[in-house]
Amino acid sequence: MSLAAVASPIAVVRPRTDEALLDNVTRAFVIAICFWGVVAFVAGVYIALQLAFPALNLGLEWTTFGRLRPVHTSAAIFAFGGNAMLGTSFHVVQRTCRARLFGGAPVAWFIFWGYQFFIVMAALSYVLGVTQSKEYAEPEWYLDLFLAVIWVTYLVAFMGSLIKRREPHIYVANWFYLAFIITVAMLHIVNNLSVPVSLAGAKSYTLFAGVQDAMTQWWYGHNAVGFFLTAGFLGMMYYFIPKAAGRPVYSYRLSIIHFWSLIFLYIWAGPHHLHYTALPDWAQTLGMVFSIMLWMPSWGGMINGVMTLSGAWDKLRTDPSLRFSVTAVGFYGMSTFEGPMMSVKQVNALSHYTDWTIGHVHSGALGWNALVTFGAVYFLVPVLWGKKALWSTRLASWHFWIATIGIVLYITAMWVSGIMQGLMWRAYDALGFLQYSFVETVEAMRPFYIIRALGGLCFLSGALLMVYNLWRTATSAEPEPQSAVPSGPAVAHAAQ
Ligand code: HEM
Ligand code: HEM
Repeated sequence: MSLAAVASPIAVVRPRTDEALLDNVTRAFVIAICFWGVVAFVAGVYIALQLAFPALNLGLEWTTFGRLRPVHTSAAIFAFGGNAMLGTSFHVVQRTCRARLFGGAPVAWFIFWGYQFFIVMAALSYVLGVTQSKEYAEPEWYLDLFLAVIWVTYLVAFMGSLIKRREPHIYVANWFYLAFIITVAMLHIVNNLSVPVSLAGAKSYTLFAGVQDAMTQWWYGHNAVGFFLTAGFLGMMYYFIPKAAGRPVYSYRLSIIHFWSLIFLYIWAGPHHLHYTALPDWAQTLGMVFSIMLWMPSWGGMINGVMTLSGAWDKLRTDPSLRFSVTAVGFYGMSTFEGPMMSVKQVNALSHYTDWTIGHVHSGALGWNALVTFGAVYFLVPVLWGKKALWSTRLASWHFWIATIGIVLYITAMWVSGIMQGLMWRAYDALGFLQYSFVETVEAMRPFYIIRALGGLCFLSGALLMVYNLWRTATSAEPEPQSAVPSGPAVAHAAQ
């Protein structure tokens, strides 16, 4: 088989399989993506407003910024992003392997409902103040154990589907999904090793102490970025861009090289979160060097994604899914250029603790993770609900522009605010005293916090337009498809 055929989920025309694919579970995931996306964005806008207008903390412990912030971060990363990856991986693995999900409906529904239950329980516990105080790993031990069971089941279902595949090759998107699933299992289990001290109070103490604790936490935290917010989303990119463009992946070789270099390099870069701390200097430098090297495989992925459009650029004008996905890849390139730069110690001395970090996070989170997910769901809803097209491409176009304007407002406000904040903190007067008090820096940031909240509001409004459009698409009165789509990779595309 030629490399071009291997590199394309659309190239090989094969007979249909006789097994029905589990598309109803994927449909449930699409609904969950929309629901949790809106929850995450509403929480984001609310905490953004709290930073500009502190009265919105309402004087209640449950609604303080400190408790709602992890609700936002977890809802965005784990609920919105997690459902996006679980749902799309089920769709992709079944089609590119021409096999029904291993374990069938009971396993797939167990993963779906178990994951939703975990999210709800985690959010409730944060609001009630139950947390182990590790960023992005806040849930206490009992929820961590529960999630480990769900995740290992997910791994078994995914691996089992790959093993029973009827295609000779494992399509590239599946390697990225697999790397994401295996690594997240490892990170989750190691970083959450702890000793429970009370059942009733749900309290535990981590197994690691001092700087080892910090290192383990940021080994986890950075690889959550690398494998949760990057590898799984690259899996999406490798399936949905070729599908929507009707072209094979630009370079299969490049996808192999950037896959292995990406997963090898990411694992070492965590110490860039701990510059100028008690962590030994050599470890900080190691983290910095690996982060700089990461620039290359990251851009390898970006180039592969964008170049896949060669010969199909005109589709950007008409296909909303493609427009979202390709813009997302552009933002991926931008944030993976900025990240290595911020990992250089001298740059980090300015950026760390400031809003620059928040700007970097959201150029990745909104620009890359959220836009590529929107691209995937715009593609999936007509396919899964058996409609010829979206209800309104015009509305999707509005969504695209409102979201893009929102992102630009958000990240430029944070860059200006962050750099200003860093420079004000380090400004001295002629006598060697600090030139600004802390409160003065906070006051200076306020206009930018208001702009950020406006940007968030635009982003949220765009997402609401999307939900309406998708709902109208799903419920429009076109005939239902030959449901349950029992098809091979090529047939799946044709059925859309
Ligand atoms: C409407 C859209 C959004 C708004 C208005 C928003 C707003 C915010 C705000 C105000 C913060 C706290 C910043 C601080 O502590 O100074 C924050 C943190 C964060 N948000 Fe968002 N957010 C949005 C969407 C997202 C999405 C889609 C993701 C992920 C996929 C995300 C991931 C994060 C993360 C990881 C942090 C913590 C950053 C850090 O600790 O450095 N956000 N967000
Ligand atoms: C080559 C790729 C990347 C590198 C080397 C990198 C590097 C960095 C650096 C140096 C920081 C600041 C650490 C600090 O001062 O505490 C940071 C923060 C962060 N980055 Fe990236 N970044 C990369 C890509 C991305 C992408 C694609 C995302 C996706 C959303 C992302 C999400 C984050 C988050 C969430 C944080 C904040 C962590 C926290 O303090 O809570 N990064 N990154």
